[in-house]
Amino acid sequence: MARYRTEFLPGSQPRLPPHPPAHYDDSRPFTGALTISSPTTALADAAPQEPERPNSPRVLVKSYGCQMNVYDAARMTDLLGGEGWSETTREDDADLVILNTCHIREKAAEKIYSELGKLAVTKRERAEAGRDMKIVVAGCVAQAEGEEVLRRQRAVDLVVGPQSYHRLPALLKQTNSGARLTDTEFSVEDKFRALPQPSREQIAARGVTAFVTVQEGCDKFCTFCVVPYTRGAEVSRSLADIVAETQRLVDAGVREITLIGQNVNAWRGVDQTDALEALMARLSGMPGLLRLRYTTSHPIDMTQGLIDAHAALPKLMPYMHLPVQSGSDRILKAMNRRHGRDAYIDIIARLRRARPDIALSSDFIVGFPGETDADFEDTMQLIREVGFAANFAFKYSPRPGTPGAERDDQIDEEVKRERLAALQALLEAQRQTFNGAMVGRKIDVLFEKAGRHPGQIGGKSPYLQAVHVDGPESLIGRVAKVRVDSAGPNSLAGVLVEEI
Ligand code: SAH
Ligand code: SF4
Ligand code: F3S
Repeated sequence: MARYRTEFLPGSQPRLPPHPPAHYDDSRPFTGALTISSPTTALADAAPQEPERPNSPRVLVKSYGCQMNVYDAARMTDLLGGEGWSETTREDDADLVILNTCHIREKAAEKIYSELGKLAVTKRERAEAGRDMKIVVAGCVAQAEGEEVLRRQRAVDLVVGPQSYHRLPALLKQTNSGARLTDTEFSVEDKFRALPQPSREQIAARGVTAFVTVQEGCDKFCTFCVVPYTRGAEVSRSLADIVAETQRLVDAGVREITLIGQNVNAWRGVDQTDALEALMARLSGMPGLLRLRYTTSHPIDMTQGLIDAHAALPKLMPYMHLPVQSGSDRILKAMNRRHGRDAYIDIIARLRRARPDIALSSDFIVGFPGETDADFEDTMQLIREVGFAANFAFKYSPRPGTPGAERDDQIDEEVKRERLAALQALLEAQRQTFNGAMVGRKIDVLFEKAGRHPGQIGGKSPYLQAVHVDGPESLIGRVAKVRVDSAGPNSLAGVLVEEI
């Protein structure tokens, strides 16, 4: 049984200007990394929406941070759907707003408080019109800051961590009496089993691609990172549960599955004897499933068996997000990454032997404490040596409670800014070169949705590039060959060659 910390903190809210609702931002070309993106709602705007039940209360779940949060947001929506809630995309229409938050860098966490300030105004305006609105903070800020969230923003009714959200309905009922609650327990029960499965209609409304969480949490304790504290220890779901969830998605029309986990390649099944490549081989046998991806992997769990799967499984897409963080052995050691630069380069070579066309991406951190110009140059050199297809790089952000934040050799903000600009310029040039090299080629595209312009449809290449063509919406959910004619900054454009 979980213990709930209960507090009554009545009071007034600050006044801030209202702001427009956020929508799914599809402007980024690559979304394969378990990494930060713009806030998303569970309902993508291009997807067909479920009819709203006219008198049901409305919930808006806004997700920040990584794909795991996107997955969790959908599960919260499913859970509340079973309790009679319907989804909305508008804050002023919502009886309940859930912010599913990210704590990875200071900016991500601070953004939540400014969002909450704005929501507090909407809540007060609704109250003046005689309508109630509850505000819930879920996700990694909830886990990391707990009751502090209630103290900093009085409009918040409930703070619920990533391992407790399956208890949302009961917690929400408790808030009806005016109680303000925090539940950040790492639950002993299986969260996934306690969550209801979405209906066929809910699945279909979310489109033809879906995430499936296979593993959660992290035992690696990189010295810069909050995830082991916000998500807890590494836990793998059972093969049977993952297969059942995937089958349900595929039966409802999903054609591409991305297996997700903070360390997805540390997945070992419940008895710790399984391997991700065996799981993927099993899923590959599912008729109807066209594509498989997985993210995010750690280099130390990159076994030869998993590398070989890139040669053996045609449904496994040739794209690998494998964060290295730094190209300097000294910094890798200080980060507690547990591998060196050569080991990373060796993994990349073996991946390329297995699948010569594989596209690669990584996360990079610049300005980790003690990083010298020479260390930074090692990172630039590694990037030149490997060649990447996407651009994910961040300035080091000291996070309270992590060893990196305690160090007294923090790097100057100006130096961090300069290094980030140089590194991003290099990665961006590589990304554009990679995209440019597609021009003239025929590639398979899985079509996902209608495009921005009438008659246009959009999808993804095997390498996770956004692709637009003129074509019928009947191709959504199918793979067709496209000849690429041009490469823009964020997407490729081409013509349909034939359906395959
Ligand atoms: N489990 C994944 C990454 C999860 S967090 C892995 O091991 O690669 C996503 C990315 O955020 C990390 O890869 C890292 O590049 C970045 N990140 C994490 N903590 C950070 C910090 N304190 N400052 C800047 N970037 C950070
Ligand atoms: Fe964070 Fe490192 Fe764990 Fe990735 S492996 S989640 S970077 S501690
Ligand atoms: Fe952010 Fe938590 Fe994901 S800190 S990156 S939402 S695991």
